[in-house]
Amino acid sequence: MQRVDSLQLHELRRRVLRGDDPEKSVVDPRDDDDTSLHFGGFVDDRLVVSASFFPSVAPVNDTLLTYQLRYMATDFDVQGNGYGAEVLRYAENKLRALGVEQVWANGRDSALGFYARTGWSILEGSQHLSPETHLPHTVIFKVL
Ligand SMILES: CC(C)(COP(=O)(O)OP(=O)(O)OC[C@H]1O[C@@H](n2cnc3c(N)ncnc32)[C@H](O)[C@@H]1OP(=O)(O)O)[C@@H](O)C(=O)NCCC(=O)NCCS
Repeated sequence: MQRVDSLQLHELRRRVLRGDDPEKSVVDPRDDDDTSLHFGGFVDDRLVVSASFFPSVAPVNDTLLTYQLRYMATDFDVQGNGYGAEVLRYAENKLRALGVEQVWANGRDSALGFYARTGWSILEGSQHLSPETHLPHTVIFKVL
């Protein structure tokens, strides 16, 4: 696992999270901010997992220094091999070292089992449809 530039993540974000639709945005306005952190995992030279973190207002525990996770994705053919858990573990260690106290995300309901396995909690009553993908999501968070 390593820090990467957000540009390196666009192709994986689009393919895994946006149905490979060339019309869909895979850019967060905060991508290039100095305070944003992007992580990727590689097998040989191939990017197989991505996760991006942005400083954010916390939807829960609002006194904690909090970052938002977006664009969590493992490539289709290597899902279930531990890469998702590994990139989160790596990122959380880096964030903790920077003084970050909590992370949160709009988690896809289809991925909530993954987040439960990696120590995240659900914010009760936060179920909603994503305005971007129209898929069911729930606010999740983890105190680091
Ligand atoms: C969700 C996703 C990021 C998980 O990444 P991954 O690399 O496949 O996950 P890992 O192999 O590290 O799995 C870690 C644990 O979570 C479990 N898990 C993974 N995906 C799961 C899911 N969708 N539902 C339930 N459990 C899941 C694994 O079985 C594993 O459990 P274990 O510790 O008992 O072995 C990946 O499947 C993915 O990119 N999915 C499509 C895009 C997506 O939904 N992204 C999240 C947007 S919020």
